[in-house]
Amino acid sequence: MKLTTERLILRDLNIKDAKEFINECTKETKIKPRKNYNLGIELKSEKKVIGCVALSSVDKYQGTASLGCWIGEEYWRQGIGTEALKKLISFAFDKLKLRRVEAGVYVENKPSYSMIEKMGFKFEGTKIKSRRAKATGKIHDEKRYALLREEYEI
Ligand SMILES: CC(C)(COP(=O)(O)OP(=O)(O)OC[C@H]1O[C@@H](n2cnc3c(N)ncnc32)[C@H](O)[C@@H]1OP(=O)(O)O)[C@@H](O)C(=O)NCCC(=O)NCCS
Repeated sequence: MKLTTERLILRDLNIKDAKEFINECTKETKIKPRKNYNLGIELKSEKKVIGCVALSSVDKYQGTASLGCWIGEEYWRQGIGTEALKKLISFAFDKLKLRRVEAGVYVENKPSYSMIEKMGFKFEGTKIKSRRAKATGKIHDEKRYALLREEYEI
């Protein structure tokens, strides 16, 4: 799986770092129909993976999926998250023919919810004590967002 934007290549990961994560990602590429797309974000100008973008829990019958994104800190605020997510959203709507993409963001994570609000995602509510962070074990409230096919303009 490979998607290309002006500055980026979104592609399946196949490098040796973070073996467990990459092994999972590799397994997912073999599941048919594919439910999870965890793609590395390669910056064309540096030929380097600088983050990941994910379209997960793809449910063709329901027409839904969830989005996620993380970028190396030195590349923040250059529009890369937006560029990568827009491409994955167009893949979700145009290619997979989904009707709704969702995102859940910890209430403390202003960069993330600011980014998806700017992209037109609608806030649908806050799930209290919704998620335990893998890194810290801490429980977080989560802001839930969605973008419907008819709302998206790219
Ligand atoms: C969230 C994240 C992906 C944003 O990526 P990015 O490439 O820096 O985002 P963009 O440059 O496309 O930003 C788009 C808009 O989002 C908002 N935004 C992004 N970072 C912000 C910040 N630190 N504070 C406030 N608003 C912010 C701004 O409105 C920005 O537009 P502007 O720069 O024109 O003002 C990045 O901060 C990140 O990887 N964070 C850690 C991982 C994470 O929390 N992921 C979310 C969980 S899935």
